Order: sequence, then structure tokens, then C-alpha cells
Amino acid sequence: MLKKVKPSQVRLGMYVTGFEGSWLDHPFWRSRFEISTPEQLERIRQARVDAVIIDLSKGPGPEEPTSGTHHPSATVERRPHPNPGLHSRAVDVLSTRLPLTGRERAAEVRRASRTLSRSKIAVTRLFSDARLGAVISTDEVAPLVTDIAQSVERDASIILNIARLKTKDEYTFLHSVAVCALMINLARTLNLPDAQVQELGIAGLLHDVGKMAIPDAILQKPERLNDEEFTTVRTHPEHGHAILSAAEGVNATALDVCLHHHEKMDGTGYPFRIPGDRLSLAARMGAICDVYDAITSQRPYNVPMSPAAALQTMSQWPGHFDKLLLSTFVQSLGILPAGTLVLLNSDHLAIVTGEDRPGSNAIARIFYAPFRSAPVPVRDVVIHPAERGRRIVSIEDPADWGFEDWDALKRAVLSDHERAAA
Ligand SMILES: [Fe+2]
Repeated sequence: MLKKVKPSQVRLGMYVTGFEGSWLDHPFWRSRFEISTPEQLERIRQARVDAVIIDLSKGPGPEEPTSGTHHPSATVERRPHPNPGLHSRAVDVLSTRLPLTGRERAAEVRRASRTLSRSKIAVTRLFSDARLGAVISTDEVAPLVTDIAQSVERDASIILNIARLKTKDEYTFLHSVAVCALMINLARTLNLPDAQVQELGIAGLLHDVGKMAIPDAILQKPERLNDEEFTTVRTHPEHGHAILSAAEGVNATALDVCLHHHEKMDGTGYPFRIPGDRLSLAARMGAICDVYDAITSQRPYNVPMSPAAALQTMSQWPGHFDKLLLSTFVQSLGILPAGTLVLLNSDHLAIVTGEDRPGSNAIARIFYAPFRSAPVPVRDVVIHPAERGRRIVSIEDPADWGFEDWDALKRAVLSDHERAAA
């Protein structure tokens, strides 16, 4: 059972599952952990968060009672339904930027296309130098990243959508540009300082330079790779790190992302099997942006997924990504797949069901009050991203909430139109 406590009430041994308030203000990038050291305890007490959410099944509760948060536990009603009515519509729920006018949009499409063309030429040249074993020069990279950042700032969806439409042949080069734009967009959503945004953009552009040490026959192979070929491909982070280390003026973030973008939170990634608590924010960002662009792009032997399907898929890979960061990544794209479990600031769990009108607000169906461990009558609410009212606090993994049969429960909730409309 979950309980919300004040930061001043936390104590050693408590199991933290989340924070309330802007998670950007709390010093823990990992939001689920046991408080095991006095230092952690002090950091939480000093953190600028409204509340700490703890799991009483995994650790002790507060010493003194908190007002109005304890309720008898109850189980969730499950009403399996044969027709889930689920769809993978993407809804733009979280973007707070003002939309461009038609004319501005057309101009931005032209500008973004030009930026992408220039970037592709520069990356191709840089990667070709790397393939030839030359010491690469990254002089051209910084101004390109600035252009990409400006395009992201004006309307991220335009440059990201164009970058997604790459052919198999140009994948390696445009993938780098796309990851650059995704890193910048995510860094902006995280409110990181400008200098850091620029470094992360450069890191995105250079993260896969080590692929140039891999034979083209493997990179372009139209069939699935065999084990030996996979082993060869998995050497590209270390090759890339060596290439970038030999170049002048490459920032530490780019070296870090290049070497660690294939590591996973559960410590099963490569090349070093480093667990998430020892991975930098930049590396965890790189892992998410890299996979998202890869699975939404046309590649040899792969059919591209839609952005919404890709996000849904990524959220279901246990242990791969930093979940909190992944939910911010979803926010940064303004895409929320229908069927996604979300926690609202009203302290309700809800499932996204669709959009109020295309490209604007999301509709979420409230069904559960987690702080009371109790189901609530289902009802639909509209999420207005640009307004201060009801909003999505986080995108949640159903596995973390202990629902025994999430698919059945989701079907039941989503099929409950009558009660929702009432
Ligand atoms: Fe890679």
C-alpha cells in the first residue's frame, strides 16, 4: 500500500516510490529506492518536493500519523471484457507551446528540411573521416546543433517528423541528427541550462560515430544479424569513444553518451553492464532517444513503429530505461498513447482514452485512488496541458501498482462507457 508523507517524516528503511511536486526539483533521478543512508535521508528532507510517496509493503511508515491519508485497503474490481476498444491514437496532451500558424508552419518545414540536409552532409563527411581512420574535426558540429536547437524551439514536431522519414540508406547519418534533436527537446523539457542542452545535442549527433568502425556489410545487411555480427556491432560504443577521444574539443558529455548509450537500467546493457544508479543523466537520456528513433525509423529488416506505438512498447520493456525519464520524454514529444496509465495531480490513477479534439486535449478515465488503495467510480476528465488545473503528474508502469491482471482491468475500465459518461 502506498502512503504520502511529508519530506520531514521520512526515515531510514522507508521505501520511496515517487515524489510529488516538480520532480525536476528533487535530487533523485531514481524515484524508487529504499532510504538506506543518513545522506539520502538528509537529501530528501532538504528536497523541494511537496510530498514523498512510500510503499508500506516494502518498508516502514512514518512514526506519527499523517492527516487524512490512511484508508482501509480495498481490492480493485476486475470486470473482464472481450473487446478492449483500445487503439493507438496519439494525442497531443502535454505540449504547452503555442501552435504555429499555417504560414509559419510551412516556413518552418522548409527551414527544418534545410537544417536536416546540411546536418546530414556534415555528419556523413565526419563519419566518413572516421571510417577512414582520420582524426575527426568537430568544428562544424556546434553551429549545426545550434540550428537544430532553434528548430526544436520553434516547433519540435516538425523537425522530428521530417527526421523520422529517413530511407534505409541514410539511416545511420540521419539517425544521428534525429537523436540530436530528440536530446535537445528532452533537455529543454527538463529545463536544463542552455550550455548543457548544447552539449547533449552534440552528444546526440556523435553518439554512434563508432558504427564507422563496423564493416558496412554488417551495418547494411538486409537480414537479421547472426550472433557473431551482433557481437561486432556491440563494439561500436568503445570504438566511438576512442574516435572521439582522439578528436579535439569533444565535450565529456559526448564521450559519456557515446560509450554508455546502450547500457540499461537493470545492468544488462553493453559494453559494461553498468546499472542505472551508476549511469549519468546524459547516458540515460541517450538510451531513450536512440531506441525511440531506431524503432520509429525505416531500417534494414525492420518495419517502423508509429511514435505512439513505440512509446507504448518502450514503456513495457522492463529494466531497460529510466522510467521517470521516459515519462518526461513522452511529455517532451507531446504524444501519449491511448491506453497509457497515468497519475493525475488529483491523486487518481487514470487511463488515457483519446483526445478531446485532434491535436489538443487528452481525455483520461479515472478509475482508482491509489492513496486509498480503492477503486473509484469511473469518469472521464479532460486534461488541459496549458492550464493550471488538472494535469498528468507522471506516466506509470502498471506493474509498479500491483494490479494482478492489468490487461483485464484496463479492458474493464475502457469498456465502461456508460458509467464514465454518467
Ligand atoms: Fe548505438
